[in-house]
Amino acid sequence: MSKVPYHVAIVMDGNGRWATKRFLPRIAGHRQGVESLRRCVEACVERGVGVLTVFAFSSENWNRPSEEVSGLMELLALTLSGEVPRLHANGVRIHFVGDRVRLSQKVQAGLAQAEHTTAGNQRLVLNVCFNYGGRWDIAQAAQKLASRGEAITELSLDRAMALAHVPDPDLLIRTGGELRISNFLLWQVAYSELYFSDKLWPEFDEAALDEALAFFRTRERRFGQTSAQVGGHGVRHGMKVA
Ligand code: FPP
Repeated sequence: MSKVPYHVAIVMDGNGRWATKRFLPRIAGHRQGVESLRRCVEACVERGVGVLTVFAFSSENWNRPSEEVSGLMELLALTLSGEVPRLHANGVRIHFVGDRVRLSQKVQAGLAQAEHTTAGNQRLVLNVCFNYGGRWDIAQAAQKLASRGEAITELSLDRAMALAHVPDPDLLIRTGGELRISNFLLWQVAYSELYFSDKLWPEFDEAALDEALAFFRTRERRFGQTSAQVGGHGVRHGMKVA
């Protein structure tokens, strides 16, 4: 059984601090964060990760200074036009996860185009969470079921979630030294292994990713069972617990 996590999720924290330490504007840190993301996607493809889910803009990030919010929107548009051809050539399928309604028409069109262009790719699914929050996702899934008059069960909610197209994350990485989840994938991380790195996101390179993957290899995943039941070893990925 493979010991490479099938689904890796990342809170890419520390861009602002990386820039401030260098007397640069915060947006320079986010720009460097895009470089780090590109490197990480390529490393994940090489290592056989199947799904990478990253937190690029949270529902709460609207409360940042307006120049940082508009800078991040601009960076998203620029990243789409600059990176999609390369991602496509690398066999990466892009999904945007989050509430698109508040995004500009131009950005929404860019997201749809990127998804359409890469829809046939199969090497890696890249979920970019943008204007996303774990609570938003649970609420929108419940609203969807209520509007259809469907019963709310763990399974029906799970299927109505914005990440229903992929199994739950096996490994959640957070960079930047903070030990919290910050409203990311609240529903889906129930059984994920958690890995916290002190590295700021722009400094999170292939070696740092390999350390996180090595940590994952040491974990025994029990999903509520005993060690003896799971055979004292074994990483089972893609499992939904009923
Ligand atoms: C958190 O660091 C990071 C973000 C809010 C944005 C993450 C965005 C990227 C890595 C770039 C990729 C983005 C797009 C548009 C595809 P922080 O700003 O909270 O850092 P700090 O804790 O040091 O202040």
